[in-house]
Amino acid sequence: MATQKKDYVMDGIVRAKYGAAALAGLQGAVPNSYPRIMGPNALKYVQEVVESGLTSDMVERFEKAFAEAMGIKHCIATPGCTPALAVLAASFPFEPGDEIIVSPITDFGTLQGLCRENYIPVFPDTEPGTVNMSARTIEPCITDRTRAILVVHKTGIICDMDPINALAKKHNLIVYEDVCQAVFGEYKGRKAGSLAYAAGYSFDSEKTMGSDVGGCIITNDDNLAERMRFIGQSRGAQMIPHFGRAHAECGYALRMPQCTAAICLAQLEIIQGQVAHRDKMIRLLYAMLGDIPGIIPLPIPHYMNVFSCWMAGFSIDPKAFKCGGEEFARQLSDAGLPGAGQGKYYLMPAAMLFLQRQAASKTYPFSMPPASREYHYSGDNCPNAQAFLENFIRWATFSDKYQPEHCEIVARMVREVAERNRV
Ligand SMILES: Cc1ncc(COP(=O)(O)O)c(C=O)c1O
Repeated sequence: MATQKKDYVMDGIVRAKYGAAALAGLQGAVPNSYPRIMGPNALKYVQEVVESGLTSDMVERFEKAFAEAMGIKHCIATPGCTPALAVLAASFPFEPGDEIIVSPITDFGTLQGLCRENYIPVFPDTEPGTVNMSARTIEPCITDRTRAILVVHKTGIICDMDPINALAKKHNLIVYEDVCQAVFGEYKGRKAGSLAYAAGYSFDSEKTMGSDVGGCIITNDDNLAERMRFIGQSRGAQMIPHFGRAHAECGYALRMPQCTAAICLAQLEIIQGQVAHRDKMIRLLYAMLGDIPGIIPLPIPHYMNVFSCWMAGFSIDPKAFKCGGEEFARQLSDAGLPGAGQGKYYLMPAAMLFLQRQAASKTYPFSMPPASREYHYSGDNCPNAQAFLENFIRWATFSDKYQPEHCEIVARMVREVAERNRV
């Protein structure tokens, strides 16, 4: 049947913005990420790509440099973390209907690839008062269909990985990391991304190592690395003698462009200094916010020796103020904190409307088979996460440009709004 024109009518749908456009016009008393600080060699590397007539080895150079910086054997560059995690999902030997345990507070990019593979996401709750899940909240979600645990180090706070890895080992599960918001953060002296089987990164322009639309996957497993290149870059094509390319798998062409690799390489040269600075500034800022009665900055776990903060945020104690989180954030934004708002949309079981629909109507992969039980998605499944986001306030991403005086300005603004609304 011919496609009807009405199929394309997008009545009432407002498309989400991304990149610098999402922050355009956000002027305030403290810096935001844009314009990005670029590594001093960015132009030189981009020029090399152009002058080589696209014969440069820039992607390989970036992959090698990133793998070395992480102390991991393989790095596979991708055009973002959404594709990185999609390639990982497509490379795992799981079946439709298999379950992946995944953080409930995250970006959709964490989930997209595993949904496309028709795996079923299962969301444990978060620990009360934090953005992350833990071994304790994960354990009751493990079933005989669970195959992997995908942890997200949300805002830059690293999950407590040792107990998660121990739990996974007991149940023979893969653990992998979404490190988009914690690049070069450290857990007990080990880098985020080196704490499990594999990890996905984003070098999106708004991310900590902002390099335009880019990302990568890292792993120590030679076979997984080779399979990811086959599935994710060679589109699952193998060379057959006397024939040519034959498609053994329905693969992707998710390759990082050479100019992005040039910028990534230049950003990699300055990232560790920037992260050390972020660590200092965020600890200072959270200490200042913690001195304001009723304001609870995100707790920084003692095991995190480097806090690579991507997004700063705090909770308000609802008993301390006459207004709720939304109104508090609005007043902060009016006071000049760029992009102050809430992050309720990060609650994936509430935000993934298509998943709710599929599960309710038991359409594939929620039909049985391949599923072996019924699923229901709603914010109510994760009451800690939902309650946390009700009172959580964050602002446009934390920036390398913060200095102690900016921390003081933020603390002053928060204090003023707090005093104005105190019960
Ligand atoms: C936790 C997390 N995962 C995945 C993504 C997706 O990354 P990308 O935009 O590079 O596809 C993001 C981006 O915001 C993220 O914050």
